[in-house]
Amino acid sequence: MTEKLVTIFGGSGFIGRHVVRKFAAAGWRVRIAVRDTRAAAFLKPAGDLGQISLTPTSIRDDASVAAAVQGADAVINCVGILYQRGARTFDAIHVDGARRIAKAAAAAGAGHLVHISALGCDADSPSVYARSKAAGEAAVQDAFPTATILRPSVVFGPEDGFFNLFGRLAQLFPVLPFFTDIVPHVQGGGGSKFQPVYVGDVAEAVLQSVTVSGHCGDTYELVGPRVYDMREILQIVNHETMRRRWIIGVPYIVAQVQAFFLQYLPTPLLTPDQVKLLKHGNVAHGGKPGLEDFGITPSAVEGIVGSYLKRFRPVQQTKRMRLSPRNGQ
Ligand SMILES: NC(=O)c1ccc[n+]([C@@H]2O[C@H](COP(=O)([O-])OP(=O)(O)OC[C@H]3O[C@@H](n4cnc5c(N)ncnc54)[C@H](OP(=O)(O)O)[C@@H]3O)[C@@H](O)[C@H]2O)c1
Repeated sequence: MTEKLVTIFGGSGFIGRHVVRKFAAAGWRVRIAVRDTRAAAFLKPAGDLGQISLTPTSIRDDASVAAAVQGADAVINCVGILYQRGARTFDAIHVDGARRIAKAAAAAGAGHLVHISALGCDADSPSVYARSKAAGEAAVQDAFPTATILRPSVVFGPEDGFFNLFGRLAQLFPVLPFFTDIVPHVQGGGGSKFQPVYVGDVAEAVLQSVTVSGHCGDTYELVGPRVYDMREILQIVNHETMRRRWIIGVPYIVAQVQAFFLQYLPTPLLTPDQVKLLKHGNVAHGGKPGLEDFGITPSAVEGIVGSYLKRFRPVQQTKRMRLSPRNGQ
């Protein structure tokens, strides 16, 4: 184990837990800064005895953030929210929280800061989420000019909220809808376009931002090897879940009406702000360096999603697959 210490904010989240495991496997001491340390205790076995510690932190509190970065050689910010609730606003988390971490990291003399932003962040976006991500980047660069900023597209992996959501819908309903502004059957009518990136590749880029020189002060767009429209994404879901659900295109106005009601669920399935993001799609435009500049070959969706979408297959299919090797003997 090295004596190097990394503090990972949001280490219990989907991306954060993969980053924790990467640094632990590389021999770093890892301090996970989370609000609920008991809920994050499942990460302790990712390291040797004493290698991973948990510290209770809210990124809305100066003192706890300062304590969390004390003595850290590197600081990673994987904190983010998808919808606003009460005082948990995009500005409070993505801008003020990010600034607080960057200032504290600079004051503590950390050598590296890696900030997870999002592809499509834009100060002029109609989406409040995307605008707050852009403002967060500016705040981080102001407080810690050598920070590395990573902008992932939609991230996929075993615990993702994207393919798993559609896998669950395929399990429960006979229809898989996607939203489009164009007649579904004409060219380009397959809905918005996405370029999903594998969570393991994102975590590797975070590790390399810290351990390999030459990435300080740069902004990267992290995307997968292929662009898919929503209809193609749902075809993959149908294939991997061994379902034959109808895939139908519906106008965005339906999404807007649904989102209006769904935003009031305790954990909203869709919000009006997310519809604005969805409509825009999430594809790199080639103006920034990417995974290849870390020497990482982006992983394809097809080689990975089947390993976790199989939980949504019909029970008899799963049984048949389990039994088939014995039948062949
Ligand atoms: N997943 C994607 O497809 C995707 C794509 C592009 C960009 N991103 C960005 O990547 C980052 C990580 O996303 P994710 O998918 O891993 O999100 P996630 O699974 O929701 O995890 C978010 C993490 O942030 C923590 N957090 C939230 N509010 C906090 C607060 N006030 N103080 C301290 N910690 C707080 C959460 O801890 P609690 O358990 O305590 O809430 C959790 O550990 C975010 O910035 C997100 O915008 C994600």
